[in-house]
Amino acid sequence: MAKIVILTGAGISAESGLGTFRDEGGLWAHHDLAEVATPEGFARNPARVHDFYNARRRNAAEALPNAAHAALARLERAMPGEVLIVTQNIDDLHERAGSRSVLHMHGQITRARCAACAGSWDAPPEMRAEAPCPACGAPATRPDIVWFGEFPHHMEEIWAALRAAELFVAIGTSGSVYPAAAFVQDASRAGAHTIELNLAPSDTVSDFAEARHGPATDLVPAWVEQVLATRPARD
Ligand code: APR
Repeated sequence: MAKIVILTGAGISAESGLGTFRDEGGLWAHHDLAEVATPEGFARNPARVHDFYNARRRNAAEALPNAAHAALARLERAMPGEVLIVTQNIDDLHERAGSRSVLHMHGQITRARCAACAGSWDAPPEMRAEAPCPACGAPATRPDIVWFGEFPHHMEEIWAALRAAELFVAIGTSGSVYPAAAFVQDASRAGAHTIELNLAPSDTVSDFAEARHGPATDLVPAWVEQVLATRPARD
């Protein structure tokens, strides 16, 4: 079970050029969340939802991992089996930076699924509402994204990891969406040390034992170097 559980949010991908949601000019300032990130919005207008995620899929494909993603991959390589990334992000920048132990609790922009048979597959660059499901043929294909009102993926595995963690670190998240925003409390109750690494104090900053504020590409490499410099030599 991982000793270090890391929760990431849109802020870790901000310096790769991908927008955050709630910062000035963020995604929810330009799009009505109810129309593009809820099952009801998809039922009302699937083409509009596909357009929204087609644009995010293009942006994610054009983006590059940054120094923060690379530092977390370095940490995992130095501490095999002891690092788990739980990300709220739908981009694949952690994987493209080399991280292997990654759980996407809000789904992945690179995946598609069928609303009729729950089959899932690698998403094409552009998805269309009328495209038939490759498994059952129903015209019910949707991005494999967890929308508001839907239950996040991997929750049992995440809660088990939080109960066993020695260290919980939240990076680039506003702490405004649950259940992710409560992970710091779950980890604290289990006795873990907790650190927030964020550009600005999050909504849950007071739940953390420690908080450092600044850009992720400064904070995360420095924190990883500190962990690697102070951990006991492997026996
Ligand atoms: N470095 C570090 N942190 C940053 C940076 C940066 N360069 N830029 C922004 N941030 C921080 C902001 O201060 C903010 O606290 O990242 C956070 C982004 O917050 P949100 O936009 O709310 O994104 P997130 O917390 O990931 O949202 C959670 O909400 O809309 C849903 O499903 C969506 O997964 C998303 C969830």
